Amino acid sequence: MKVSIIMGSTSDYEVMHGAEQFLADFGIEYETRVISAHRTPDLMFEYTKALKGRGFGVVIAGAGGAAHLAGVAAGLTPLPVIAVPMQTKTLGGLDSLLSMVQMPTGVPVATVAIGGAKNAAILAAEILALCDPEVAKKIDAYREAQSDKIRNTALPPKQ
Ligand code: RP5
Repeated sequence: MKVSIIMGSTSDYEVMHGAEQFLADFGIEYETRVISAHRTPDLMFEYTKALKGRGFGVVIAGAGGAAHLAGVAAGLTPLPVIAVPMQTKTLGGLDSLLSMVQMPTGVPVATVAIGGAKNAAILAAEILALCDPEVAKKIDAYREAQSDKIRNTALPPKQ
């Protein structure tokens, strides 16, 4: 299954590219679109409604400010939606974070850290891994490599 990466503006792309890079490294197919819940609501509706039928399994949605992109996407598709709050100039991204993480009960989005596009991609891969043994193997290897880094790190001698 594929991953849909959506973002509210081209200004989000530098951060969201981190999700693309991780998915590409894992050989997971993805599609990236700039779609805004308030600037292009018709496109948002049309695109998100069609995702399940087009073979997507997870949506990653990055947005900033009054960040309703992920919540609206979650209302339009039954697919799991992972939200990436963008850093903002005025409130440091707290506005984005709270807009995403405080979804009312019933229509959840899984929210990662501010700017956490890579973690969103890892989580998306873990969801796909439930039904894809190849992705599951890569997740296991990725986790093992992280453990190795810690196990094999010697502290420098203290002066
Ligand atoms: C949101 O507004 C976007 O997700 C972006 O993070 C923020 C600012 O957009 P631009 O003014 O840079 O287009 O909709």
